[in-house]
Amino acid sequence: MEKNLSAKYYTTPEYFESERKTMFTHSWQLLGPVSLLTDSGEYISEDIAGMKVLAIRGRDGCLRAFRNVCRHRGAVLVPKGQGRCHAIRCPYHNWLYDDAGLLKNAPWFGEDPNFHLADWPLEPISIEVWQGLVFVCIDPAESLSSQLAGVICELDDVPILDYQCVHTEKLVFDANWKIYTDNFVEGYHIPGIHPEFYDAIHFDQFETQAQDGYVKMTAPGKKDLFYKGRWYWMWANWTLSLFEGGMNTSRINPIDHQHTELIYHFYFDDVSDSAKGAIDEIIQQNLAVVRQDFQICLDIHQNYASDGYQPGPLSPKHEQGVGYFQRQYANALNGS
Ligand code: FES
Ligand SMILES: [Fe+2]
Repeated sequence: MEKNLSAKYYTTPEYFESERKTMFTHSWQLLGPVSLLTDSGEYISEDIAGMKVLAIRGRDGCLRAFRNVCRHRGAVLVPKGQGRCHAIRCPYHNWLYDDAGLLKNAPWFGEDPNFHLADWPLEPISIEVWQGLVFVCIDPAESLSSQLAGVICELDDVPILDYQCVHTEKLVFDANWKIYTDNFVEGYHIPGIHPEFYDAIHFDQFETQAQDGYVKMTAPGKKDLFYKGRWYWMWANWTLSLFEGGMNTSRINPIDHQHTELIYHFYFDDVSDSAKGAIDEIIQQNLAVVRQDFQICLDIHQNYASDGYQPGPLSPKHEQGVGYFQRQYANALNGS
């Protein structure tokens, strides 16, 4: 019988530190649609488990990514979010980097024969684009395609490149990121937590498969279901859910061991004015389902943190995804 992970992994700050050093430094992290980086100078700045990164389109057309950390005394260079700039000026002492990360000026620094601008470029990190989605990795343990593994073929039939990103939504809640992940990779809680969603699917035909870097959940819809009945979670912390004519992606990003942010992007193929009402409705319905999960995650976090919980059994029918994620997690934490 497979059992749930021990509570200490969710509630101890030291495990968050280990996760940062093992999983989050070495795995590819979804930043968002490449359409946000179309023109030169456009950037996306995000946190990865507290590590600040930025991706920017250079004037030479190249996409690059860096730690969003000034080489002088460590200030944050550009604010979190999306924007456009032609040079990266540190707000602290005005050091100026170009869009290729080279230090071009350190005003008022003074004379030091051992100080050379060329010695202090921004620290580069890896960046790749797959199906119009931008991923970065601080120190890759494997290629992006190797990490994506089976999901590449799995999503072959989805015209992702035809979709346009129309909306970004960030949601923050007070629970460990793995409690939310455990929750995402099982449909077992749908009757209890999402009654309207339960009414809209054939729950008795809900299926979960976990293999090759991803968890896939499917269920035939009954009526008025805005989902297409296919949901995915991918190692290490991103998700993709299909709608009629669109999809969303999310990254489950730990802020620390007890706070998590979700960064959602919503994509649709028909983004004409006439489709706007339907798009807004799908986005709001979808976010309502996401928010329904928060309270249970908060309560579970408190139970885990209170020493009041010993690991219980996982359902062989509905919780293979939970077991799969937790095994992958344990392997990553152990460096295997
Ligand atoms: S920390 Fe950036 S210029 Fe001083
Ligand atoms: Fe849920």
